Amino acid sequence: MECRVCGGTDWQEVVSFGLVPLANGFLDPADSYDDEPYYPLGVISCRSCRLLSVTHVVDPEILYRDYPYVTSDSDTITRHMRYVAETCRERFALPPDGLVVEIGSNTGAQLVAFRDAGMRTLGVDPARNLARVAADRGIETLPDFFSAETARSVAEGYGRARLILARHVFAHIDHVAGVVTGARELLSPEGVFAIEVPYALDLFEQNAFDTIYHEHLSYFSVGTLVSLFARHGMRVFDVERLPVHGGSILVFVGRDDGPWAPRPSVEELLRLERRAELHSDAVYRDFALNVDRVRDELPALVRRLAAEGKRIAGYGASAKGNTILNVCGLGPEELEFCSDTTTLKQGKVLPGTHVPVRSPEYAKAHAPDYYLLLAWNYSDEIIRKESAFLNGGGRFIRPIPKPVIISADSL
Ligand code: TMP
Ligand code: ZN
Repeated sequence: MECRVCGGTDWQEVVSFGLVPLANGFLDPADSYDDEPYYPLGVISCRSCRLLSVTHVVDPEILYRDYPYVTSDSDTITRHMRYVAETCRERFALPPDGLVVEIGSNTGAQLVAFRDAGMRTLGVDPARNLARVAADRGIETLPDFFSAETARSVAEGYGRARLILARHVFAHIDHVAGVVTGARELLSPEGVFAIEVPYALDLFEQNAFDTIYHEHLSYFSVGTLVSLFARHGMRVFDVERLPVHGGSILVFVGRDDGPWAPRPSVEELLRLERRAELHSDAVYRDFALNVDRVRDELPALVRRLAAEGKRIAGYGASAKGNTILNVCGLGPEELEFCSDTTTLKQGKVLPGTHVPVRSPEYAKAHAPDYYLLLAWNYSDEIIRKESAFLNGGGRFIRPIPKPVIISADSL
């Protein structure tokens, strides 16, 4: 495999999970599970540019045309999207009638915040099922992958963009060169490309190995992003580290002929990455050991509780949760069901483990003794929301960075 940043072909293994099904490959219980697809899953590091990449790239046509992941309407994410909109509008003095294009716009939730401020918006997303939902709320959406060609036709049809957003989609893209050159062409000279990706430093520091699944092709550091954009006539000029999705960076990129001078944040994070020796053998090795520890300790804990007669269910049928269950070998033997607020997932079964997904109402009526907190990135919000469960003696098992039990007493 060629490195999607530098073209290198010499890779170092970081972790390997064997064959794993797709994290958003929810199945209908009426279907046969016999031909459920499994693909190799692991992370490797490019020896020339240190891009961290998934080992096997699944065809995006399979992954994204009919997509069950709906942008979260949790308080955490709603607040965050509002923050992104306000930050961009204020910091980059976006004109009221300027064009904002969002790559991977999902149901349009982020663009609504710009439209409500009077800006022109356009979503681009290959998921046909979601583009319809977005259109219904008045967010025009091209049901396609973003590429250099898409960028050109958007520029012809709508003019240049003042802002291009790519929140939690950039790491899903294989042909990054095409997307970056396309974005550069579509941007007006003073335009800004804002991307938000899970942060490689958090992957290691928080042991967030569940962010590894087939959709996430790259695990970016600021260093890799700086060198990627420099290859395509663009410049990373500002970076913010955020707790969203278990640890992310919001990276602002401008054209190298544009007005945006680098802020100290870029050098600060590059320094932090150097100090952490992010891409050293020692960091990779410790990560693999920490992952193995969860793979040992989590099933042991869950099985001990089950053997004591405790009833256990999953909380949040997140894509990352499916990595945890499949990689740790947990399934219907241990989990009665998995609660999730997404109607598209309810009534289906989880990929690989085939644990049934149920609504929060069902979960309330069948409350277990323990919830395995698969959506641990929303811990604070969920603990607040589930105070009655906790006060009634219910407990959560938070799997990452290492398994811990959360009870009303421990809070
Ligand atoms: P995400 O981390 O990719 O946003 O996925 C989180 C999943 O967890 C998503 O399917 C929605 C679900 N969820 C709940 O079921 N209850 C909750 O309170 C929250 C915050 C998320
Ligand atoms: Zn490389």
